[in-house]
Amino acid sequence: MSYQGKFRVWRGDDTGGGLEDFTVEVNEGEVVLDIIHRLQATQAPDLAVRWNCKAGKCGSCSAEINGRPRLLCMTRMSIFQESETITVTPMRTFPIIRDLVTDVSFNYTKAREVPSFAPPKDLAPGEYRMQQVDVERSQEFRKCIECFLCQNTCHVVRDHEENKEAFAGPRFLMRVAELEMHPLDTADRVDQAQDEHGLGLCNITKCCSEVCPEHIHITDNALIPMKERVADRKYDPIVWLGNKLFRR
Ligand code: SF4
Ligand code: F3S
Ligand code: FES
Repeated sequence: MSYQGKFRVWRGDDTGGGLEDFTVEVNEGEVVLDIIHRLQATQAPDLAVRWNCKAGKCGSCSAEINGRPRLLCMTRMSIFQESETITVTPMRTFPIIRDLVTDVSFNYTKAREVPSFAPPKDLAPGEYRMQQVDVERSQEFRKCIECFLCQNTCHVVRDHEENKEAFAGPRFLMRVAELEMHPLDTADRVDQAQDEHGLGLCNITKCCSEVCPEHIHITDNALIPMKERVADRKYDPIVWLGNKLFRR
């Protein structure tokens, strides 16, 4: 069964743009990315969209559908009414390149600001040993496909360009937490999280976790445990004194 669906797609570039209306054929089993491809093939050959795997694994096709941050390739057309007009816009937090494609280099900058894994100097890679429980803890975070939907959604930067310099965003605070929870990492991630990656700006709204296509519990399993570690260090008098005396 196919029908003619109504779509409103943002078109433009860094100088401006707006929503354009299209009517596009929709077939059973299709996802929004299929519609965007049909739109390119039949009516708007210069429509820009970034995608790669069409399987929810490359993290390229992030956009906003009816205002909700989503992967275009994992959003089934069957969740919408046939009579509904579906609006597709680019991610709002990042600068527009063209149409549905944004410049996500903010995220690469933030990734580079997180110092890499720092194992003990006397341990060679083949000698790493860790408990299964520690492996499992970080495995959840390693499911990240770097779609940056969480980064796009977090209100700390979504409407506040001025916070971008100080805030790594949920994806990279989660990376800091992953390293902090790694039993072989020797770097001091707790102070870094607070002082250099802006953990204090997160007020646990959990919007990042809600939009994560990998269903990672970013807030509960990464951000809150990091906040607890910061609080322990800063406000527990014994920890505070220990840090003063024996800080590594
Ligand atoms: Fe995407 Fe989830 Fe990774 Fe954020 S944590 S970049 S939402 S996969
Ligand atoms: Fe932002 Fe997620 Fe914290 S949406 S405020 S990073 S819980
Ligand atoms: Fe790869 Fe959508 S095209 S996640």
